[in-house]
Amino acid sequence: PLPPPYRVPLPIPAVAEPTGTLDGTDLYEITQRAADVEILPGLRTTIWGYDGTFPGPTFETRSGRPVVVRHTNRLPVPTVAHLHGGHTPADSDGWPLDLVLPVGDNSNWAHPHNGTTMVGDLAAGVREHRYPMTQRAATLWYHDHRMDFTGPSVHRGLAGLHIVRDDAEDALGLPAGDRELPLMICDRAFAADGSFAYPSIDRTLRTVPGVEDRWMPGVLGDVVLVNGAPWPVHDVDAARYRLRIVNVANARRFVLALRVPGAPDLPFTQIGSDGGLLAAPQRLDSIAMAPGERVDVVVDFAAVPVGADVTMVDTLGNDVMRFRVVRVARDDSRVPDRLADDVAPLVPGPVVREFVFRRGAVGPGHRGWTINDLAFDPQTSIADVPLGQVETWRFRTDVHHPVHVHLDHFQVLARGGGRPRPSDAGWKDTVDVLPAEIVDVAVRFTRYTGRYVFHCHNLEHEDMAMMATIRTV
Ligand code: C2O
Ligand code: CU
Repeated sequence: PLPPPYRVPLPIPAVAEPTGTLDGTDLYEITQRAADVEILPGLRTTIWGYDGTFPGPTFETRSGRPVVVRHTNRLPVPTVAHLHGGHTPADSDGWPLDLVLPVGDNSNWAHPHNGTTMVGDLAAGVREHRYPMTQRAATLWYHDHRMDFTGPSVHRGLAGLHIVRDDAEDALGLPAGDRELPLMICDRAFAADGSFAYPSIDRTLRTVPGVEDRWMPGVLGDVVLVNGAPWPVHDVDAARYRLRIVNVANARRFVLALRVPGAPDLPFTQIGSDGGLLAAPQRLDSIAMAPGERVDVVVDFAAVPVGADVTMVDTLGNDVMRFRVVRVARDDSRVPDRLADDVAPLVPGPVVREFVFRRGAVGPGHRGWTINDLAFDPQTSIADVPLGQVETWRFRTDVHHPVHVHLDHFQVLARGGGRPRPSDAGWKDTVDVLPAEIVDVAVRFTRYTGRYVFHCHNLEHEDMAMMATIRTV
C-alpha cells in the first residue's frame, strides 16, 4: 500500500563542500555507493547514490571559478558521471564509454556491445572531472551516463543538482535563501519489499542492455518523488519563492500546475530554463517538462490566503507535492522586467542537418531506438561541426522524444512548422519533441573540440541506442 500524499516533509539535498582549493580551483570528492534509505514510510530501499544519497549532494559553484570533482566508484558496476548542461571539455564530459570501474574490480569490461567495440578511457576506481564553469548562472544536474545502462543507474538514484551562480543574477534581487527551493521530480515503481522495481532484461546490469518489451516506450512508476520523497509537503511564507524544477524522471513527461481550492490556479512566472535566465520573465499557467529539462520559476504565495494549500499537480493525472502557506512575512524580493542581456537570437548559417528519431533495428534481431536509422556508434561521428558555426538542426520524431545535446546550449527556432511555444524560450539543452513533430533548433558549439554525444533523454530510449556521436572541430 502506498502512503497518503502530502505527509512527508520536502527534503532539501545537502550542499557539497569542497575538500580543498588549489590555485583558485575548488576540489570536491564524491563517493558513489549503495545505501539503505527510507523512502516509503516503514520500508527500506537500497539506492545507489553520490555519497550514498538520493538525490546526491547539490553543487553550488560560481561562473568562472573552476572546479574539479573526483568520483570514486564503490558500486558493483562501472559508472561515468556527466554534468548535464555543463560547458565541459570532452575528456571530462562523461563520454558514455569513459568508464570508472568499481574500486578493486579487475574483471574485463571491454566487451563488444551492440556490435561495436568499446572505445573509451577506462579508469580504475577513480576519475577526476575538470569543470571550468565558463558559463552563465544556470540550474544544471549531474547523473550517470554509462553506455547501455544509464536508465537503471539513474533509476537507483545516481542524480544530483548543480547550481551555477554569477554576479549578474545575484544583483537582480530574486527570492533567495530559504525562499529558493530545488525540486527534482521523478517517478518510481516499488516492489512490495520497498526496493525499486526496474524491468531490466539483465538484472546484473552487466551485458544485455534494455528493458522488458512492454517498457520499450520508457519506464514509468506510480509514485512521484520530489527530492527523493513521495508527494512531499513544504510550509511556505506568504511570499515569493524561486523554484528550480528539474525533471529527473527516466521517461515521464509532467505538465505542472498549481491548484488552489476554490480559486483559479496560481500562475508561474518563468525566469529561466535549461541554460539560465530568460531575457524577460513570462507568465505561464502550466509548464510541460520532459526528462532532462529545467524550469526556473517564481511563485507568489502571497496571492493566496494564509492557511491555503497550494498543490502542485501533473495535469496528465498525478499528484506531485503540496505547499502549505503558513504565515504572513516580509518580502523584499523582486522579479525585474529585464533579467538578462545575453539571450540574443542565434542566426543560423546555411548548414541544416536533419535527425530522425524513431524505433528501429539496432543489431541483428534487436529492436531499439535509432537516430537516422542508426544505433549509437561510438566510433563514427554523425556530424563534424566547426566551432562557432551556427547550424540548424531539425529533429523529427515518431513518438515523443526529448532531445538533449551536450557541450553547448541551443535555441528553439520553430516547432511543428510554426513558432516555438513560450516555454521553449531562452538557452536550452533539451527540447521536448512531441509525437510526429518537427522541431528546428539553432546549434552553436564553442571553445572545446572533441567527441561528444546527443541523444534522446528518455533513458530507456538512450540505453536502447538512441544516441549519436558528434565531433566539434
Ligand atoms: Cu542528462 Cu547526455 O545527458
Ligand atoms: Cu526517445
